[in-house]
Amino acid sequence: MNIALILAAGKGERMEKHQLPKAFIDVLGKPLFYYSLSTFQNSEKIDRIVLVVPKDFLKLAHEYQINFNFPKLTQIVVGGETRQQSVYFALQNLNASPKDIILIHDAARPLVNERIIAENIEVSEKIGAAATILQTSDTIVVSKNRKLIDSIPKREEYYLEQTPASFRFDIIYKAHQCAFIDGISDSSDDLQLVARLGGKIGIIDGDKDNFKVTSEADLNHLLAIISK
Ligand code: CTP
Ligand code: MG
Repeated sequence: MNIALILAAGKGERMEKHQLPKAFIDVLGKPLFYYSLSTFQNSEKIDRIVLVVPKDFLKLAHEYQINFNFPKLTQIVVGGETRQQSVYFALQNLNASPKDIILIHDAARPLVNERIIAENIEVSEKIGAAATILQTSDTIVVSKNRKLIDSIPKREEYYLEQTPASFRFDIIYKAHQCAFIDGISDSSDDLQLVARLGGKIGIIDGDKDNFKVTSEADLNHLLAIISK
């Protein structure tokens, strides 16, 4: 079984103009989370979808569930204070089998596509975990004090990480359990938690359009793309 976990429980503090949490902001008449949810719904490879929302928005999310036609969306759960906690709560309530594939996706990336979803499943089935990554055209520089550069790594070896990240359920569940035991609660991505245990992670190519809506400028960029 392939299960998508769509994370929509953040506050969106970097989108200051809006009253609603980022994933619930209206984008052409639909909440932002609708867009990625709809791509997972349409993907033949996905069996079920779990949406993770802020506690105060559970009721609204259930209303949306009734109004939208997403038969694979069978569960809505309340998230936590940090992204890591949101994922861990969802995993604890998932009722999954060890070999199931879990795709963890940010609702803030509305333009994920079906190719990315299919390749994530293929690679994580084989390797245990998969990362969606993007080559950078800009060179990355390292500066610890923001005044002077410490080093300039080889551009060909550095990538940007997008979501989804995908895992066999037993691998990601153990990674979250260990992080919790070790007092880590604010990791911004799930792959890190697997990597720290020495887990293997395969890679698949992301897409420039699969960007994360973080600021107002990103929202305008999204509107420019989807209203074409
Ligand atoms: N997320 C979540 N639970 C949290 C924090 C984040 O489910 N406690 C989700 C967000 O809803 C988002 C994704 O994780 O889809 C990526 O996080 P980010 O872009 O940082 O979103 P927010 O945390 O909502 O934004 P900000 O950091 O600006 O407050
Ligand atoms: Mg955040």
